[in-house]
Amino acid sequence: MSAAKTDVTMSDGDFSKLRAIVHKNTGITIGETRKSMLVSRLRSRLREVEEPDFAAYITRLSKDPDEMQELTNRVTTNETYFYRTPRVWDYFQDEFLPQFLDQGQNRALRVWSGAASTGEEAHTIGVLLEDIRLGHQKFDYSVLGTDVSSRVLKVATDGQYKGRSIARFREAKPNLFDKHMAGNDTDGFKANPQIRSRIKFKLHNLFDRLSGAGPFDVVFLRNVLIYFTDEDQEKILRQVHSQMRPDGVLFIGESETLTKLNSPFEPIAPIIYRPKAKANG
Ligand SMILES: C[S@@+](CC[C@H](N)C(=O)[O-])C[C@H]1O[C@@H](n2cnc3c(N)ncnc32)[C@H](O)[C@@H]1O
Repeated sequence: MSAAKTDVTMSDGDFSKLRAIVHKNTGITIGETRKSMLVSRLRSRLREVEEPDFAAYITRLSKDPDEMQELTNRVTTNETYFYRTPRVWDYFQDEFLPQFLDQGQNRALRVWSGAASTGEEAHTIGVLLEDIRLGHQKFDYSVLGTDVSSRVLKVATDGQYKGRSIARFREAKPNLFDKHMAGNDTDGFKANPQIRSRIKFKLHNLFDRLSGAGPFDVVFLRNVLIYFTDEDQEKILRQVHSQMRPDGVLFIGESETLTKLNSPFEPIAPIIYRPKAKANG
């Protein structure tokens, strides 16, 4: 088999097929104008697996589930960092958590980071909750981070962060950072073992039911809905709702809204929602 050339092109037919494959596997809708993005993300992969062109690569995908996962890893956009959107964390710390503690719940708080990417969101949650745990004898928590990309979950599980990934958190909350993250600038920082033991990561597609977890008190579904059609967002939101406690809270991304959707959530504040009560009968 000959190696793919660097200038390999994608026919419109192959672009359509790949868009359909990606949608079927991840729900992600690749816009009709994004062919060059897809080519640039996959060109090096064709060389690595020594497929001469996209038609051959599509045939390979139909026979090779590992390659399908690799395609998912390549087409997802995984931008994230600690303490993204401070407003979300202010609400979580100053409104939600005091209410939860006041209720004197005799169970651990369960949090789901539903598009966890490389794990910065789940670790931010862990640091904030660990700080509460150290001050409240009866409080405990668990955090589940899930994503459809196996590549990012490896980074999340390793949990070693540096540079841009931690910069904003370090600047905004220096005391919390120093108390709960250990390491140095060269090698990176890891959350302390007490935090790490309470965070798990798992491969999961948001369109599927999440088994063996939940119900969750808090769900972070941030900066992922933008990749889906309205109809697909509604499907995901119904799944998420079914995994939440009735008094739970849902956080979405800063450029997202549920207002135009038919969803089982109602707003508490911009980008912060609670499950609608189930209709009687
Ligand atoms: C931009 S990142 C968001 C990370 C983090 N939530 C944040 O706001 O910083 C979007 C993530 O959603 C994941 N994703 C895309 N489609 C998904 C699906 N169907 N199920 C689960 N995760 C998905 C991608 O792999 C990517 O890591």
